[in-house]
Amino acid sequence: MQTEEDKAHLLKLACEAAQNAYAPYSKFQVGACVLYEDGSIYTGCNVENASYGLSLCAERNAMASAVADGKYSGLAAIAICSPDAQLCFPCGACRQWIVEFSKNARIIVQDKDGVKEFSIQELLPYSFNLD
Ligand code: THU
Repeated sequence: MQTEEDKAHLLKLACEAAQNAYAPYSKFQVGACVLYEDGSIYTGCNVENASYGLSLCAERNAMASAVADGKYSGLAAIAICSPDAQLCFPCGACRQWIVEFSKNARIIVQDKDGVKEFSIQELLPYSFNLD
């Protein structure tokens, strides 16, 4: 479990990453910040494409950066931020990606009333797995 300060820090990094979003089509900027159990942190933003279906979500971008650095498990938390939305929740595909890297991940989002935290099990019950 992260402290309130930790969560605020992750959200700040996610909001900063959102500023780099490449979203010329939707104009909807998203940033994500992933924290691993060893303390390492990766950020990502959404990257759109003229072929709309090829667009990449911020959360998956951040997790892919972690994989490129050799992180295959131990995802502790992911913070998500969009200047264009209140409570920017991960989409269904990103939820399935999150559960791939941890069954216990915490999802951190914020709205005007403050920071909210959920478990991936709350957001994606009965997820697909190969067990
Ligand atoms: N988007 C994300 O980055 N994360 C999500 O979980 C949902 C949606 C992006 C994809 C697209 O670039 C824009 O938001 C509008 O759907």
